[in-house]
Amino acid sequence: MCGIVGYLGSNKAAPVLLSKLRVLEYRGYDSAGLAVIESGRLNILKAVGKLSNLETLLQKERPTATVGIGHTRWATHGSPTDANAHPHVNHNGTLAVVHNGIIENYAELKTELQGKGYEFLSDTDTEVIVHLLSHELEKDKDILQAILRTVSQMAGAYALGIVSQTHPDRIFAVNHHYSLTVGVGDHESFLASDSAAVRQYTNKILRLAQSEVAEIKADSVRLFSFEGVENHREPISVEASAYKIDKEGYKHFLMKEIHEQPLVLRQTLSKYLVSPDKPVNFNVEDFSPELSGLYGVKMTDEEIRSIDRVQIVACGTAYHAGMVGKYVIEELCGIPVEVDIASEVRGRKLLGNNKTLTIAVSQSGETADTLAAIKDAIGNGSFTLGITNRSDSHLATLVQNLIVTECGIEVSVAATKTYAAQLVCFYLLGIYLAEIRGSITKERAKELKKGLNQVPALIELMLGREDAYRAESLKLADAQDVVFIGRGFNYPTALEGALKLKELSYIHASGYAAGELKHGPIAVLDSSVPVIAILVPGKVYEKTLSNAQESRARNARMVAVAVDGDEVAPKTFDYIFRIPVVDELLSPLVTVVPLQLMSYYIADYLGKDVDQPRNLAKSVTVE
Ligand code: G6P
Repeated sequence: MCGIVGYLGSNKAAPVLLSKLRVLEYRGYDSAGLAVIESGRLNILKAVGKLSNLETLLQKERPTATVGIGHTRWATHGSPTDANAHPHVNHNGTLAVVHNGIIENYAELKTELQGKGYEFLSDTDTEVIVHLLSHELEKDKDILQAILRTVSQMAGAYALGIVSQTHPDRIFAVNHHYSLTVGVGDHESFLASDSAAVRQYTNKILRLAQSEVAEIKADSVRLFSFEGVENHREPISVEASAYKIDKEGYKHFLMKEIHEQPLVLRQTLSKYLVSPDKPVNFNVEDFSPELSGLYGVKMTDEEIRSIDRVQIVACGTAYHAGMVGKYVIEELCGIPVEVDIASEVRGRKLLGNNKTLTIAVSQSGETADTLAAIKDAIGNGSFTLGITNRSDSHLATLVQNLIVTECGIEVSVAATKTYAAQLVCFYLLGIYLAEIRGSITKERAKELKKGLNQVPALIELMLGREDAYRAESLKLADAQDVVFIGRGFNYPTALEGALKLKELSYIHASGYAAGELKHGPIAVLDSSVPVIAILVPGKVYEKTLSNAQESRARNARMVAVAVDGDEVAPKTFDYIFRIPVVDELLSPLVTVVPLQLMSYYIADYLGKDVDQPRNLAKSVTVE
C-alpha cells in the first residue's frame, strides 16, 4: 500500500506534496513524511499517524524548498513509528527514498549491507534500498546507473521515489509492477502513485511502464528500461480534474456515501441501460484517450456464446459483490461461475482457456492480489473483464473488457456505494450475457431491468427510515460477537454485513451461509450473541427461517432484515429492520443498506474512527 508523491518546479514543494498526499491518504495513514532539498541540504519531515500530524509539523517548520518527495504509509515491515516512517535516508543524510511495495529479498540484502558496515535505524525493507543505492553510488557517481544496479539486486514488486542532495535539479521514480504517474506542467513536474493526485495540477501525464525508471526534471522527463535503454514516449493528455473532497454537511464521508447510493445507481444504470425495452449496452464511447478502444465489452456475440465457464477474482467487499455475481450469472445464463479471493489464486494454477471469462472486480483497480490474478488469467488465455470505479487504474489497462461504475471518488475506507454499483454491474452483465446467449426470456429481462430501475427509489425509501434503523442498531452496540446468516443471493449479504460491522466498529462478526450454522458456528451462540438473519421472500425464505429458529432455540438475540408486511418474522425475531418488498434476485441491493447503516450507527456511537478505521487502507497495493 502506501502512496508516493513528488514535485519539482518553482513553487514551494511542501504544500503541493501535502495536497497530493491528501488524495493518497486512502492508501494508508500510519505515518506520513517528506524529503525536500532546502538550501542545498536534504531536510526530512515526518510524523506518525494521520496526515494532519504532518500538516501541523509543516505549519511549524514551513520549508521553502521547491523540490521534494513524500509518502503516506500503511505499515508492512515494522510498526507505525517515527523510525519506520518514510522517507528513509542513507548514512550521511544525502539520499532519501520513499517506497510502495515489498522487497522480498530484503533480509539477505540487509545482512550483506550490515556486513559492509551499514547501520540500520528502522525495521523496514525500504531502508535496504537507500543503503544499497548509497553503496552503489560510492562505486561511481552516475546516479541513474547506481539506481539501475540497485534495482537489479532487488526482488519483489515496488514503486520508488528518490531524491539526492547532490542532484537537486531532479527526482527519480522507479516502477516495478506497480503504478506511478508523472505529470508534466509548465516548468514543473509532478509524481504520484495515483494519477488523480497528478491530474489536480496538469492534464499532461506519463504513466511509467513496468520495470521503468524516470529521471524527472522541471522541464523534462526521461524514461529508461531496467537495462538502461532510453524509452521515448510523449505525455498524453487526459482530463484534468480537481479532487473535491467534501462531506457536504454529513458528519462522515461514510454516511454521505451511503446516501449517494440512489444517485450512483441511477448514474450507472442510465449509462448502460437506455430503456427496459432495449438490450443492455456496455459499449459507451465516451472515454479518456488512455482507454480508447478498451472501454466497454468488446467480445463478439459469438465469443460470448462460446463461454462455458466464468471465473471471478476480487478481494474484500468486491469479493462479496463477485459472489452475488456468481449467483446472478449462474441463474440467468446457466454458466458455471467460480469466485476466488484473489490472494488465494497466488501460488495456484488459475484454470482457464479461451472459453473462460475471467472477471476482476476492484473499486480501486489497484489491489495487488486482484491485478496478479487477472495477469494469471491473461496468461491462461481467458477473456478478461474488469469492473472498477477507476477508469484510470492499472486494472483498466490490463483487461480486454471494462465496465466502469459511476460512483465518483469513494473517500471512506469502508466501501458502500461502490459495492452497490458493482452489484448493479453484475446484474446488467448477467442480463447482457443472457440476452446474447438466449438464456433469458424477453419478459424476464424486461422485468429485471424495470426492477433494477426501481432500486434507487427503494433505497431512498429505506434512507427515510434512518431513525428506526438507528434505534434498532444501538440495541446491538454492547455485543462482543455478532453472527450474520443468509442463503442464496443473500449469503454474500451476510458476509458483507459482518465485514462492515467488523471494520467500522471493531466488534467481532462472522457471516455464514444459514444452512452451515448447525455445522459448527451454532456452538458460539448464547443469549449474548445477536444473530442477524437476512430473510427475503423467495426460494430460500422458509429454510432461512428454520435456521433462525434453530438459533432462537439457543437463546440467541434474534434480529432480522425482513420485508414490509412479513407477519411471520416477528414470531422469531426480537428486532426487525424492515425493508421494502423486492424481487429475490435483486434483493442484495436492498438488504445490505440497513446493515451498512447499522454498522455506521454502532461505530459512531462507540466513538470509532468511521472514515479511517484503524489498521486498514482503502487500496491494498501489496500482496
Ligand atoms: C481493502 C478495503 C476494502 C476493499 C478491498 C478491495 O481491504 O479496505 O474496502 O473492499 O481492499 O479493494 P478494491 O479496490 O480491489 O475493491
